[in-house]
Amino acid sequence: MMFARIAGVGSYLPGQPVSNDDLVARGIDTSDEWIVSRSGIRSRHLADAMTASSDLAFAASQRALEAAGVDPDTLDLIIVATSTPDYVFPSVACLLQGRLGNAGATAFDVQAVCSGFVYALTIAEKFIRAGGHRRALVVGAEVFSRILDWQDRSTCVLFGDGAGAVVLEASETPGIMASALHADGSYQGILNVPGHVCGGKVLGDPVLRMDGQAVFRFAVKALAEVAEECCASAGIAPAEVDWLIPHQANIRIIEATARKLGFGMERVIVTVDRHGNTSAASIPLALDAAVRDGRIRRGQKVLLEGVGGGFTWGAVLLEF
Ligand code: ACO
Repeated sequence: MMFARIAGVGSYLPGQPVSNDDLVARGIDTSDEWIVSRSGIRSRHLADAMTASSDLAFAASQRALEAAGVDPDTLDLIIVATSTPDYVFPSVACLLQGRLGNAGATAFDVQAVCSGFVYALTIAEKFIRAGGHRRALVVGAEVFSRILDWQDRSTCVLFGDGAGAVVLEASETPGIMASALHADGSYQGILNVPGHVCGGKVLGDPVLRMDGQAVFRFAVKALAEVAEECCASAGIAPAEVDWLIPHQANIRIIEATARKLGFGMERVIVTVDRHGNTSAASIPLALDAAVRDGRIRRGQKVLLEGVGGGFTWGAVLLEF
């Protein structure tokens, strides 16, 4: 049986960290105490006006390719998960492909907001297992700062920019063991960016709107359920998983999910304190941090899980 296995991981964060006090200094009516107590976020990175998702994706991809020891020419699939693409089209995946100097690989974007990376990874795994593709670059890249209402203190303090990438390739050994993806469009109203381009103008409200408490409740339930579903389909108990990497939205969501699943926080990778919520980039950013600092090692079982606008949610269980 053909498996798909992560061969290398990389990530990139733009500029210097922006602390909560820096946001106060920029005129946002908030405090470090409020942000830390409600979300666990202490700082985030914000891209400058000249930096787009494809720039972050390119930098993260170079690091993942280097970690895997792989030449971009050998990629036959490029998938970018993003809700903040450079343009309406072409896709970030095609822009990235052009910059990597790869020609001919299948390349497309996936839009599942904060679940985007688990969606993209699952899609890449299915391409590889189907046999037509052997080596994929899977990226989560976001400049969420572009779609925030900086006058809305209840949302703008929660997000950040960044990118993470993995090289996924065909392997005789696991690899991805199981995955589960879900969506329920009836929850579209609790988290959205309800604007669009029409006739050369932006119509609607092109910034993020969120019912924070409704999102909180939905996220904890969905993350706990999908983690259990994914483990069950691989035939293992959550207790056998070495590391949980939940979407990094809010430390209280992460802690509540870990509690429901019986995970001690010493088995949970947390980067939300220094990255904020980077949407589709959050999981590969956290994975890369934990691989590079030596916590996640080859052969360990890692459970990735995300939840986001749509609503979408999903999980991937893998042996690293
Ligand atoms: N600084 C200071 N005060 C603030 C701020 C701020 N940045 N934002 C809101 N407040 C005030 C409000 O005005 C309100 O004041 P009032 O009581 O005088 O009216 C008070 O704080 C409480 O506001 P609530 O919205 O009730 O605060 P809550 O405790 O619900 O926390 C939060 C808000 C952090 C958004 C919470 O609901 C939450 O964590 N939700 C999850 C949302 C999330 O993580 N989303 C990420 C995107 S979705 C995803 O990735 C899955």
